[in-house]
Amino acid sequence: MMDKISIKQLLQSREEIDSICVKGWVRSVRRGKGVAFVALNDGSCFASLQIILDPGLENYETVSKVGTGACLSVVGKLVASPASGQDWELVATEVILVGDADEDYPLQKKRHTLEYLRTIAHLRPRSNTFGAVFRMRSALAFAVHKFFQERGFLYVQTPIITANDCEGAGEMFRVSTLDPSTPPQKDGRIDWSADFFGERTGLTVSGQLQGELFATAFSDIYTFGPTFRAENSNTSRHAAEFWMIEPEIAFADLSANCRLGEDFLRYLVIYALENCQEDLDFFNQRVEKGLIAKLEDLAKAEFRTVSYTEAVELLQKSGQKFEFPVEWGHDLQSEHERFLTEKIFSGPVFVTDYPKQIKAFYMRMNEDEKTVAAMDLLVPRVGEIIGGSQREERYDMLTLRMADQGIAEDDLSWYLDIRRWGTCPHAGFGLGFERLLMYLTGMENIRDVIPFPRTPGHAQF
Ligand code: 4AD
Ligand code: MG
Repeated sequence: MMDKISIKQLLQSREEIDSICVKGWVRSVRRGKGVAFVALNDGSCFASLQIILDPGLENYETVSKVGTGACLSVVGKLVASPASGQDWELVATEVILVGDADEDYPLQKKRHTLEYLRTIAHLRPRSNTFGAVFRMRSALAFAVHKFFQERGFLYVQTPIITANDCEGAGEMFRVSTLDPSTPPQKDGRIDWSADFFGERTGLTVSGQLQGELFATAFSDIYTFGPTFRAENSNTSRHAAEFWMIEPEIAFADLSANCRLGEDFLRYLVIYALENCQEDLDFFNQRVEKGLIAKLEDLAKAEFRTVSYTEAVELLQKSGQKFEFPVEWGHDLQSEHERFLTEKIFSGPVFVTDYPKQIKAFYMRMNEDEKTVAAMDLLVPRVGEIIGGSQREERYDMLTLRMADQGIAEDDLSWYLDIRRWGTCPHAGFGLGFERLLMYLTGMENIRDVIPFPRTPGHAQF
């Protein structure tokens, strides 16, 4: 058989083609009088290609009865389609049944719930919705690199196994080769010095600390990798394994950091609008009505900035009844975040300068000595999409903050070293890649924008 061409390429054809080969999976089969129609999809684009099967085909009886899900290789003639909604169809001259599928195939042509599709995560990429989700995920991953590479940022791969809990929230998954039934003990406790790395290690919750080291050598850097958090929160916006993009910029303060976050998000939204049109049309029609208009608005929107203290006042004055009361010194709950971005600002808003006691040790202390130079970017429907800060670059202040939070200097001596030798103001943030995709697709559950979701109780596939 001849080389195949993707259905995406084929549908962009400007003329009839005498003989061409496509390969893909059957979405549906319709048998008419003396003819059968197969919708074939190869994932290269949203649309399926209509294949016309004529009884003259040598194996017509077999191939006109293939089941949904079967894999076909087809050679045929590309002709203008008389049917509406498609420019081209393929009149088959040779069909090979590469892999049959019987009627037990779970993705029959009907609408399935997202919950059901999660239980068949090995097959859901072959559905319309997840085809669109994962094509967008791939496109946006490329856009992330494009944004930073165009701006001269260095891409650094920070370690996945680490001894440091960057966020200090105690949510690290343990990495160990010790036998859990008989771990070596010392003074009545597990002796981690006998473990593989000679110390207690886990999966990273953030590449930031190592990113900072690289920023004080390469000025502007970013990471883009998997991140793990053993937080037992069963929400629609938290996953135990997610991907995060963390830029870190030297010679920058909090407002430069916010500008970078704004430019970055705007760039990604415009990239999606310009490059993922067909998939966005689907989300716009079937998942979130008005999605495209929302994204077009964001591309032009003014990003507002409000301090945490002002945000608390606005929420308290709003008269809205919240499940959790709003009180200065407490973290904003997602209901508060969404109220701010959806009701008060009706658009993206940076909340800055949070109380020091609710934020990580590395954030730079403000002059009031009560708040730190933190920023969260909130967007409608998703809430927090970016979290970042200016970093504490002053050695003495940093050790003080570590002592406050009970972090041993020995454990982070390398992190402190960059404050001893050539320290400089620097800042950065983390964008949750799945939160971005939720925002761009309108999908409401983080489990539905990641290929194989890991959440409490679920690591199947
Ligand atoms: O706000 P976070 O915890 O910030 C950090 O990890 C910093 N070290 C980032 C930095 O300054 N370099 O996480 C950053 C973002 C959040 O705003 C959110 O989008 C996403 O990561 N995120 C999660 N996404 C999915 N599931 C989870 N469990 C997430 N936790 C955080
Ligand atoms: Mg955060």
